[in-house]
Amino acid sequence: MTEAVLETVPDALSAHELSVGYDTRQGRLQALRDVSLDVRAGEIVGVVGESGCGKSTLISTLMRLLPENAHVADGCVELDGEDILTASPRRLRAMRGREMSVVFQDPMTSLNPVLTIGRQMRDIQYREGISKAEKDRRAAHMLGRVGLPDPEAKLRTYPHELSGGMRQRVAIAMATLMHPKLLIADEPTTALDATLEVQIIALLQEIQAEIGCAILFISHHLGVIAELCDRVVVMYAGETVEEGPVADIFEHPAHPYTAKLIECDPGRLKQRAETLPSIPGSLPDLTDPPPGCIFRDRCDLATDLCARQRPSRRAVTPGRWSACHHAEKVSP
Ligand SMILES: Nc1ncnc2c1ncn2[C@@H]1O[C@H](COP(=O)(O)OP(=O)(O)OP(=O)(O)O)[C@@H](O)[C@H]1O
Ligand SMILES: [Mg+2]
Repeated sequence: MTEAVLETVPDALSAHELSVGYDTRQGRLQALRDVSLDVRAGEIVGVVGESGCGKSTLISTLMRLLPENAHVADGCVELDGEDILTASPRRLRAMRGREMSVVFQDPMTSLNPVLTIGRQMRDIQYREGISKAEKDRRAAHMLGRVGLPDPEAKLRTYPHELSGGMRQRVAIAMATLMHPKLLIADEPTTALDATLEVQIIALLQEIQAEIGCAILFISHHLGVIAELCDRVVVMYAGETVEEGPVADIFEHPAHPYTAKLIECDPGRLKQRAETLPSIPGSLPDLTDPPPGCIFRDRCDLATDLCARQRPSRRAVTPGRWSACHHAEKVSP
């Protein structure tokens, strides 16, 4: 989508200043701090960041699937203008699947091992006033759509009778069966081999074009994000540090963390490396986050200012921002 078009497209999802903590034996762990994110109708937005930076916590917050020890300290989430964080459990059940749905890394998270695929796909359609035969017909159509051979027979199988790649296709068919406005995918290709990963990405693109849903796609792999997404949000240690159109960010990152992620992305390494490079250092202790910039301990550009003052979001170019005091020095 071009920028002029984007400005007129409404938000499918809007998350504003989300702060979420987990109670742990070491104290409250600040998993998200002031995270804001918009996904416009029909847009594909990627969220990237290394393990432990809060990607799954963000998704669980958006879907209201947080565990008991989690607390939303601040912020709001709206799906098509409706407040998710205060919606009744009944309303939430009605919204899940129909208005927003999720595909997890491990398809078994969303599949019930003791029910046939057909039964599970009928259950998703429980509010539709149509016959069992029609529900099966729609389910089989969707299974065919995601590339499963002999979809009618697949309705009678149990999840364990399918391969991992097939199970992920079933999970995508289930998540998109009701044509949700927003599809959230949490590392849906990480457990698959490279060929299957390419197929699943192509499938998501096709389905998105067909049903017009917005997609929020989570990955720690920049190459996958670049392939699929219009825009990317970069997360580090529970904060969003940079956001903008994928191509611009790849060409000219404006946050030192993004630049290091690109350097370490296996898909972009020119020579085959013996061991995959990783960003030196580790995530800060999130039960006691340091003052100033959250990335400064691992940053080559860090100065006294970074130790004293938490950087706020600064516009880099139209539609792009970076939370770095030295954004202009990142891609000279
Ligand atoms: N239920 C929980 N209780 C306590 N801490 C948790 C819980 N779930 C996650 N955390 C912590 O919150 C932080 C963010 O975790 P999260 O799972 O959101 O990261 P992630 O970016 O999804 O990582 P990955 O790429 O490994 O999936 C981590 O420090 C993690 O240890
Ligand atoms: Mg995760």
